[in-house]
Amino acid sequence: MAMRLFLSFLFRLTLVLFLLDSAYAQALRVGFYKNSCPDAEAIVRKTVASYFSQDPTVSGPLLRLHFHDCFVRGCDGSVLLNSTKTTSAEKDAMPNHSLDGFYVIDAAKEALEKACPGIVSCADIIALAARDAVSLATGSVGKETRTAGNYVWEVPTGRRDGIVSMASEALANLPSPYAEITQLKASFAAKGLSAKDLAILSGAHTIGNSHCYSFESRLYNFTGRGDTDPTLDPKYAIKLRSQCKPGDETTTVEMVPGSSTTFDTKYYKLVMKRRGLFHSDEALLQDKETIDYVYSRLDSPKSSFFFDFGVSMVKMGRIGVLTGKAGEIRKQCALVNS
Ligand code: HEM
Ligand SMILES: *[C@@H]1O[C@H](CO)[C@@H](O)[C@H](O)[C@H]1NC(C)=O
Ligand SMILES: *[C@@H]1O[C@H](CO)[C@@H](O)[C@H](O)[C@H]1NC(C)=O
Ligand SMILES: *[C@@H]1O[C@H](CO)[C@@H](O)[C@H](O)[C@H]1NC(C)=O
Repeated sequence: MAMRLFLSFLFRLTLVLFLLDSAYAQALRVGFYKNSCPDAEAIVRKTVASYFSQDPTVSGPLLRLHFHDCFVRGCDGSVLLNSTKTTSAEKDAMPNHSLDGFYVIDAAKEALEKACPGIVSCADIIALAARDAVSLATGSVGKETRTAGNYVWEVPTGRRDGIVSMASEALANLPSPYAEITQLKASFAAKGLSAKDLAILSGAHTIGNSHCYSFESRLYNFTGRGDTDPTLDPKYAIKLRSQCKPGDETTTVEMVPGSSTTFDTKYYKLVMKRRGLFHSDEALLQDKETIDYVYSRLDSPKSSFFFDFGVSMVKMGRIGVLTGKAGEIRKQCALVNS
């Protein structure tokens, strides 16, 4: 009797462990490539570092790619896919969101395919490259001496690549720079991200550049009556108008003047002064939770923002991921395997 009970207990325990194990197999985890491709993270880091040392402005596009990947169909590398004869891909959405940095992802992929063919997904490369770009842009870590502990955050990996990319989904899922706080919160909530995540992740705009056309109407024709966005500091509007003439398609402006390649908390100081480039940046001042986060940056150390940013990035990096046997590991990031 005791033996039967024990056996039944053992059976149940085995079942539970098996179920737990398969549940975990479906989840992302730090060090997913430890055995299958031990140098995976080092290869991505080396690639990003080599481009960064030639041109530190590469960090902005790399960080933004991860956001655009995750918000459209989950973090499945769909942002990297080229359009086909029959479908227009995310990167060709109108406007195509001036995405950049694809060549860095492609270079990392090429090196990874040499080291361990068919193992590392393009979606994971984007996630790792975003982390490495931010870590390099903090400027506080040496390029060669960095160990995993020096990263701003650890990236759970194990994403697989999707096979679909649609321009229409990019338009539908990415928030507009003219969005109000309620729209921004709703857009983030639809991805399982909170108002606090919104305030934290908007801090990404502490690095990078924007085309004039992304905020032009704030300067010249905000409501269609030749007016300026009242949430923009009027003095700053004068400065921006001198940099961005109406109809300018090519000029870019630093998100944070003089500091667009340094990852820090200056963005929040600008937003407080109503000098964020986008209406969506100023919108953070329209909600209790987001304004609290913005103002709390004044008397918090940079490290507390870095910590928060890492936590929110890991959360963003889990949106709609494909794991286990779903999707595929692309051979080339711009093409699905045939
Ligand atoms: C909250 C909603 C957001 C809106 C409305 C928004 C909008 C934009 C726009 C319009 C640009 C300028 C594109 C151009 O004209 O070149 C931009 C740039 C950028 N965004 Fe966002 N963004 C948002 C959230 C995020 C998030 C969550 C991240 C990353 C975690 C991010 C990272 C970046 C970066 C790094 C750049 C600079 C890109 C470069 O230097 O080329 N953004 N964003
Ligand atoms: C994807 O499209 C870009 C731009 O049209 C092109 O330069 C690139 O060669 C394409 N990639 C592949 C793998 O076909
Ligand atoms: C976005 O569109 C412009 C103009 O059509 C094109 O020059 C640019 O290469 C496109 N960018 C991407 C990433 O496809
Ligand atoms: C401002 O916007 C209105 C409404 O969209 C438009 O009719 C008008 O032509 C615009 N003015 C300028 C100077 O672009």
